Formats: sequence, structure tokens, C-alpha cells
Amino acid sequence: MNYSLQLKDLWPSVRAALLCEQKYGALLNNFSPVDHVAQELELLNATDFVSEALKTAQQSQWVMEAETMTQAEMSPPLCASISSNIKCYTFPRGDITRFRPARPDALGLLDYYLMDAASLLPILALNVQPDDFVLDLCAAPGGKTLALLQTGICGHLAANDISISRTKRLYEILHSYIPKEIRKMVSVTSCDGRDWDQLEGGTFHKVLVDVPCTTDRHSVMEDDNNIFHKRRTKERQMLPMLQLQLLMAGILATKQGGEVVYSTCSLSPLQNEYVIERAVEIAETQFNIRIHVEDLSHFRTLFQDTFSFFSECRLGELVLPHLTANFGPMYFCKLRRM
Ligand SMILES: C[S@@+](CC[C@H](N)C(=O)[O-])C[C@H]1O[C@@H](n2cnc3c(N)ncnc32)[C@H](O)[C@@H]1O
Repeated sequence: MNYSLQLKDLWPSVRAALLCEQKYGALLNNFSPVDHVAQELELLNATDFVSEALKTAQQSQWVMEAETMTQAEMSPPLCASISSNIKCYTFPRGDITRFRPARPDALGLLDYYLMDAASLLPILALNVQPDDFVLDLCAAPGGKTLALLQTGICGHLAANDISISRTKRLYEILHSYIPKEIRKMVSVTSCDGRDWDQLEGGTFHKVLVDVPCTTDRHSVMEDDNNIFHKRRTKERQMLPMLQLQLLMAGILATKQGGEVVYSTCSLSPLQNEYVIERAVEIAETQFNIRIHVEDLSHFRTLFQDTFSFFSECRLGELVLPHLTANFGPMYFCKLRRM
């Protein structure tokens, strides 16, 4: 009922997609020999959606230049803000082929990680730069931590999650995909992320706050541990408060000039834009910190061939599930600490 008010005519199609099998992307493991895996996937007609988007953007930029537009006249720098080390293969729109399970290489590292390809967008938005200190505040089971490591340029990565059992899964992923010498630069902790500023406030260049949410796709399909179950009503009602507290901790953990990406896998504005608005207000009024909400609309242009975006998000971007591109939901918004 709620989403039909928000998404209006789009809701029946989003609902149908949520009720159908989701699509995956194969995040290549750069720490394993990837060339033959890439070739194998290309033979199946899959493409690396990140490099494809960058190629298309470069071509359109050339066309604009040829049409004598100056740099200043162009829309936001399309490719400047994307880490190109990340390679994630997806099948074309409408193609619902499944990927084979990942395989170990000669050293025992798995060749790719299957994930919702839209989960990579918050990582691309974070735009890690060489030697950045990065904090992944709610990291388990570790898909996004793994993607952050695939950039190959983090100076240090702190991966935290309150749940000890889910942190074990994070360790398993690190062991299955990352060589020992790289694992050394990851510190894994199991703290309440809300207390992070008391541990290491103001030290990180980049912070990912991928909060617990109503996990809408899981919630429409699975009875097990469903957040909409009556016995979890209170917990569900408190989610936006928890999300806000985690985002505030993420902001306080960031250096001046540093960036925070907030993400959820929910369609709910209460868990998305409203949390952002409240955090910006609290940062200013209670901590005297000015926050700039970055424009990510170029993501819509860049990745329109792979994902369906909601065009009416007030702040940040939202990937809507669609039967021909059944990824998401994935909301992401980038904040800069001024
Ligand atoms: C959406 S999941 C994170 C998924 C993860 N980023 C990934 O890509 O695999 C949200 C996580 O937040 C954790 N969490 C919940 N409350 C937390 C808190 N107060 N502090 C830190 N982590 C918390 C949950 O245990 C859960 O693993």
C-alpha cells in the first residue's frame, strides 16, 4: 500500500519483479587470474557493465567535443568518478541466464563472487583513491568489502559488523577471495557501529554505511526471519532511528573533506531520503559539521543500460527492480563532510 503511493504506476512492475527470481552479477576476483574467466563469460554473451558504461560515456564525450562543446558546458564528468578496477559481468537486459557457481584457481582462491550487481553502485560512488583509509561500518557478510578490496588501492580497510556470526561469514569470504598479504591490511571488528566515533573519529577518507533495512526483496519472498513479522514490529519501527545513528557515526568517522556513502536495499523513503535529511540537519545543528549531498545523477546516465533507476529520488539514487533488469532495490547517496 505504501509503495503504490510512492511509486504510483511503477509499483505493479516493481512488485512483479520483486516476486520473480533476481539477477546476479559476477564480480571478478582480481586476485585470481581473471583473463580466462572474462573470456568464458564473454562467450556466454555476458559483459562487464562497469567498463561498458565507461566506454559508452567516453564515446559520447568525444561526440560532444566534436560538436565543439567546451568542458564547462558538459554535464558532470561522467567517468572521472568511477574506479575502473572493478569488473562485474552481467547478462544483457531480458537475458535470465544463471552464472555457474564460482570455482577455485590453482591457489584455492575463487574466481568470482555472485552478487546483486546494483550492490556495486555504492562502491563505485565511494570512488576510493590510492591509499585511502576506508571504513565499512556494517560490513557483513562482506560482498561490498570484497568489492572495495577489488579496487586494489585502499591504503587500509576497517570492516566492522555488530553481528559476530555474520562477521564469521565475512572472514570466510576474505579467505576464499583475498591473498594473505592483502588480507593483512583489513582489520575486522565486531563493534556497535553507533559507537565508532568514540573509537576512531575523524580518521577515514571514505566511509561506507550499508545499513540494516527492511531488505524488501527478502521480505516479499521469505518467511524466515522476516522483518515484517508481528514479533519484529518494534524493531522495524526503530529501523530509521538505527540507520540515522549509524549514518551519524559514519559522518563523525570521516575526515574533513572525506566522503560517506549511505546505502540500503529498501524502496522506503523513510529509510532512504529521510535518514539523509535528518543526518544533514543533526550534523549541522549538533556538531557544527556542514554536509554536502553530492549529485549522483550521472550514475543514471552511465548505467542506464544495466539498471532501471527511479527518476524521482529527491536525494541520492534508487535502482528499481524490473523484470528485464531484475536487480535491486538499491538506494545510495553520497555525502561530503565540508
Ligand atoms: C545490509 S547488511 C550489510 C551487508 C554488507 N555491507 C554486504 O555488502 O555484504 C547490514 C549489516 O548491519 C549490521 N548491523 C546491524 N546493526 C549494527 C550496528 N549497530 N553496528 C554495526 N553493524 C550493525 C548487521 O549485522 C548486518 O550485517
